[in-house]
Amino acid sequence: MNPIVKWLVQHPSFLSFFLIVRDGSLSKILLIPSYFLPPKAIIMLDRKEIWEIVEGYDLDKAEIGVIASHSALDVCDGAMDEGFPSIAVCKDGRHRTYAEYFKAQRKDGRVERGIVDDPWVFPTFKDVMKPEIQERLRSRNAFFIPNRSFTSYVAMEEIEDDFRVPMIGSRNMLRMEERGEKKDYYWILEKAGIPFPEKIEDPIDIDELCIVKLHHAQKKLERGFFSASSFKEYKEKSKALIRQGVITHDALEGARIERYVIGPVFNLDFFYSPIEEEMSKIELLGVDWRFESSLDGHVRLPAPQQMALNESQMTPEYTVCGHNSATLRESLLEKTFEMAEKFVAATKEHYSPGIIGSFCLQTCVDKDLNFYIYDVAPRVGGGTNVHMNVGHPYGNTLWRKGMSTGRRTAMELRRAIEMDKVKEIVT
Ligand SMILES: Nc1ncnc2c1ncn2[C@@H]1O[C@H](COP(=O)(O)OP(=O)(O)O)[C@@H](O)[C@H]1O
Ligand SMILES: [Mg+2]
Repeated sequence: MNPIVKWLVQHPSFLSFFLIVRDGSLSKILLIPSYFLPPKAIIMLDRKEIWEIVEGYDLDKAEIGVIASHSALDVCDGAMDEGFPSIAVCKDGRHRTYAEYFKAQRKDGRVERGIVDDPWVFPTFKDVMKPEIQERLRSRNAFFIPNRSFTSYVAMEEIEDDFRVPMIGSRNMLRMEERGEKKDYYWILEKAGIPFPEKIEDPIDIDELCIVKLHHAQKKLERGFFSASSFKEYKEKSKALIRQGVITHDALEGARIERYVIGPVFNLDFFYSPIEEEMSKIELLGVDWRFESSLDGHVRLPAPQQMALNESQMTPEYTVCGHNSATLRESLLEKTFEMAEKFVAATKEHYSPGIIGSFCLQTCVDKDLNFYIYDVAPRVGGGTNVHMNVGHPYGNTLWRKGMSTGRRTAMELRRAIEMDKVKEIVT
């Protein structure tokens, strides 16, 4: 699209102003107030454009690319297992994990050690958007696996509009995990009839334990979550956190308040294969749960020590810093598949073509064994390194060999190539 036309479509308020000036009539100004128009329209990259790129690919030389962060090790390990070379797009200063310590060593093409074939180190992650880097990825017949670092460090609209590299996953669904977007994950959970923690519209209505979800003021990509059981506690805690610079007043205004589900956390790492013809298209690969910064420290303190903490240490933070693996009691499994089925069906209806590949339903289970989904990752989950290389009881059992999310994703590409169905797994 012509860049000027594209800019105008993306900034409709400018367009209305333009029309007003040309028309010059006051009545027109009142008729089309620019603030009434959406600030920015999304121009989702046409899937056909991606298909044309795939048509030009030499699939015998396909590679797997990923932003080197989040769950990239699992992705690169899986690529290795399925015989695809891996490209890790690194940020300078955070590159050594991939470029040095997990760098692959090959002899006669066979991997002897490590998992990253080609670390590309750039000053920032968003350099991946540069036309010459995208061209470099395409020239390597690369398939990109979106992870949370990709969507955090690169603007969502740039991924949607301008990232001309085939992605295994659903480009149009990535935005739904931004809480507060019009069609965010809560919206689709409601459409799908899947339970999620009840929203509290006004903090004055807090009458039992709730979690307040908002961004951290200083740690840009982290959470400034806190809990409260009453409006009084909400006011006291939020005041203290604002004073400590952990949260801002503005972020608090836009926070989501929801009921805190008292129970264990299970992140369900699912996979959806649109190309599967005989067996279930939905697979449960693994279950993980997270270690979260000071929250985990708090639960390891005996009550008297907890009670003695001063104001600055009293409220735990929820920054993810590790993962663990879990299984579920068997009678709960049926419920997880039911949720996954509903979710997949709703994504097909509302986000055509719907979910592709890995996705993660992040759940809590209450005392009556009811699941509530408090978060959805419409892409590889953040905790899949937990089953990297060793696989997971569920994935391994299903596939009769070690099956991690990274490997399953690479295997999907391998199967799609063999079945001549690559277009069905890319957007
Ligand atoms: N409704 C809830 N009830 C209980 N715990 C919750 C709830 N929502 C979130 N949490 C806790 O907060 C953590 C982060 O929440 P999440 O919504 O996944 O945030 P993010 O979008 O930053 O990943 C979870 O791992 C879980 O421990
Ligand atoms: Mg989450």
